[in-house]
Amino acid sequence: MTTSSVHASTSPLTKPYSLEDWQGGNQALKEEFDYAIDNIEGEIPADLQGTLYRNVPAMLDVNGQPLHHPFDADGMICAIAFSQGQAHFRNRYVRTQGFLEEQAAGQILYRGVFGTQKPGGWWANAFDLRLKNIANTQVIYWGGKLLALWEASHPHRLDPQTLETLGIETLDGVLREGTPFSAHPRIDPGAEGRESRMVTFGLKAGLSSTITIYELDSSARVVKQHAHSVPGFTFIHDFAITPNYCLFFQNPMSFNPLPYALGLRGPGECLKFHPQRPTKVWVFPRDSSQAVQVLEVESGFIFHHANAFEQDDEIVVDSVSYQDFPAIDHKLSYRKVEFEKVPPGQLWRFHLNLNTQTTRRRLVNARACDFPYVHPARIGQRHRWIFLGAAHQAEGNAPLQAILKIDPETGEQQLWSAAPRGFVGEPVFVPRPGSRTEDDGWVLTLVYDAACDRTDVVILEGTNLSQGPLARLHLKHHLPYGLHGCFTPAIVA
Ligand code: CO
Repeated sequence: MTTSSVHASTSPLTKPYSLEDWQGGNQALKEEFDYAIDNIEGEIPADLQGTLYRNVPAMLDVNGQPLHHPFDADGMICAIAFSQGQAHFRNRYVRTQGFLEEQAAGQILYRGVFGTQKPGGWWANAFDLRLKNIANTQVIYWGGKLLALWEASHPHRLDPQTLETLGIETLDGVLREGTPFSAHPRIDPGAEGRESRMVTFGLKAGLSSTITIYELDSSARVVKQHAHSVPGFTFIHDFAITPNYCLFFQNPMSFNPLPYALGLRGPGECLKFHPQRPTKVWVFPRDSSQAVQVLEVESGFIFHHANAFEQDDEIVVDSVSYQDFPAIDHKLSYRKVEFEKVPPGQLWRFHLNLNTQTTRRRLVNARACDFPYVHPARIGQRHRWIFLGAAHQAEGNAPLQAILKIDPETGEQQLWSAAPRGFVGEPVFVPRPGSRTEDDGWVLTLVYDAACDRTDVVILEGTNLSQGPLARLHLKHHLPYGLHGCFTPAIVA
């Protein structure tokens, strides 16, 4: 990228990044590839076997018409398969109905939640409340099924090898077409006679909202389902589980549908955060015959929880909380976002006492961060380490350029930074086969390298992040910034 090299060499860098560099990762990728990765620095560990799946909102323009926000972009699934020290890359768009229609028409046909409008001004958009299932937030592999998820509607099922779209997933008819299904399932690893399960939910938001909790057994059959009504408007993206509870933090938000109905804003831009109102915490027992409890914590906005566990009379929850909803002014392009004016996500620890109905919270670390990840066997159990995408500097808000590993109890931490020209995504922790300690394994993340306008798959040593990558796998192209994904040892291409 000529422009960013010129910028870096001619401007004094007062920040650990330049906005032009960051913008390089906000270009659409329209090609679909399938190749062995042959440009590798370092060595891929021979015992790293399996596939890293990533979901990337990648169609950032439709035939040159830019989307208003990357969260509105069609999902593209990437699979990076590791076997015997080798790696293979493949990417495919999810062929949702809306994707096929828009690609055939060569123009935007649907409004987006985050402000994308059809051409023709407000008149062309008013009262068109149809949304496109864009399948762009998460991709999970469970019960032999690879599913692309978008929280407001049903999953799409894909072929785990070829990434071909197989169709809408109904979970044996449990989900009707259009049923909300969260992008944040939690895999309860099971223990002490309990089998491993996928626990997830669907949120139907309105003046009053309904949360439906689903539990799926290891063959992806729904074995438990219970619905709860939650008063008031609800915007909940993620939840946390323990062996006995599902925990939902109801962000103090309200929704004014008028600008959306009138074709002026996306529904995601009609949300208002209320800092003077507490966050409600809904505690739904997984045994649905037990009583529901509601607690309150101080106001905050949460997208993502790292983990929760039961300890004596308390439930401990580690979450990334923002002091305000990190919204962007509708009139500004997201590409011009002034990071320092947006509140940072920060890691907090919450203590919920179900006996006394009291709560307390503590800031674990002030560094801007998000995309928390814990060892898969610690989900719902007491964990020591959390891995996060984080800012290079310890204070202020900035793009995610570093991977942080932190012990919330002691504050002990390790950091690896890709600054000034690298921008990281969600870190996925993969335990080493036969590992004995919680951090014995690898952290896999995608790093957009503005210096080469391409993306690297970076493998870090879990026990020693700060030593730098064990391997950097250079892709032949860039990838736009992704959201979530998973690793499974079950699929090796
Ligand atoms: Co998320």
